[in-house]
Amino acid sequence: MSADPFQLFDAWFAEARASEVNDAEAMALATAGALGQPSVRMVLLKGHGPEGFVFYTNEQSAKGAQLADNPQAGLLFHWKSLRRQVRIEGIVERVTDAESDAYFATRGRDSQLGAWASDQSRPLDTREHFEARFEAMEQKFDGRDVPRPPHWGGYRVVPRRIEFWFDRPHRLHERRLFTLGDGGWSEGLLYP
Ligand SMILES: Cc1cc2nc3c(=O)[nH]c(=O)nc-3n(C[C@H](O)[C@H](O)[C@H](O)COP(=O)(O)O)c2cc1C
Repeated sequence: MSADPFQLFDAWFAEARASEVNDAEAMALATAGALGQPSVRMVLLKGHGPEGFVFYTNEQSAKGAQLADNPQAGLLFHWKSLRRQVRIEGIVERVTDAESDAYFATRGRDSQLGAWASDQSRPLDTREHFEARFEAMEQKFDGRDVPRPPHWGGYRVVPRRIEFWFDRPHRLHERRLFTLGDGGWSEGLLYP
C-alpha cells in the first residue's frame, strides 16, 4: 500500500494555522557540526511538498557552517493547541538562486535591509552598531529595489523519515512513522 505523509502534513499544517495563536510555521531545526556536536534553533517554514521543507537564512551563520560540514538536519513542529508534533529527518540541499531571489522579493523592505545589515551568529559590540549598519543599508539602497545578499538564501530538507505524533486518551499516544525506501514511502505504527 502506498503511503503519503505529505497529504497528512498538509492537513495537520492547515489545522495548526487555524488553531495556533501564532507561528504555526515555526519549526526547530537541528543540525550537527563536523565533530557531531548537536545544535538546535527555530526557523520558519517557507515552502513544503514532496520535494522537501524550505527555510531561509544567512549561509554564513552557525547553522550555515554546520550544514556546509554536514548536510543533514532534523525538523520539529510542535503544535501545542493540537497536542501534536511532527519530526522530519533528511538531507539538506540549497534551493536555486532563482527560488531564493523570488522569495527575497516577497519580504518587506525592512527584512530585506536587515538581511544585509546582519552578520548572523557573530557577536555584535552594541545594538547601536547594528542600527547604524541598518541605516547605512537604507542609504545605500535608497530609491531602488534591495537585491538579495549573496550570503542569504534557502535550504531544503529533503525528507527520508517523517513521524507524526498525536495525543490519545490515557497517555496512549500514537506515532505514525513514514520512511522512504527503494519502493517509495511506507508507513508503520510505533509504540508511544
Ligand atoms: C519563531 C522564530 C522563528 C525564526 N525564524 C528564523 C528563520 O526563518 N531564519 C533564520 O535565519 N533565523 C530565524 N530565527 C532566529 C534563529 O532561531 C537563530 O537565532 C538564528 O538563525 C541564528 O542561529 P544560528 O546561530 O544557529 O545559525 C527565528 C527565531 C524564532 C524564535
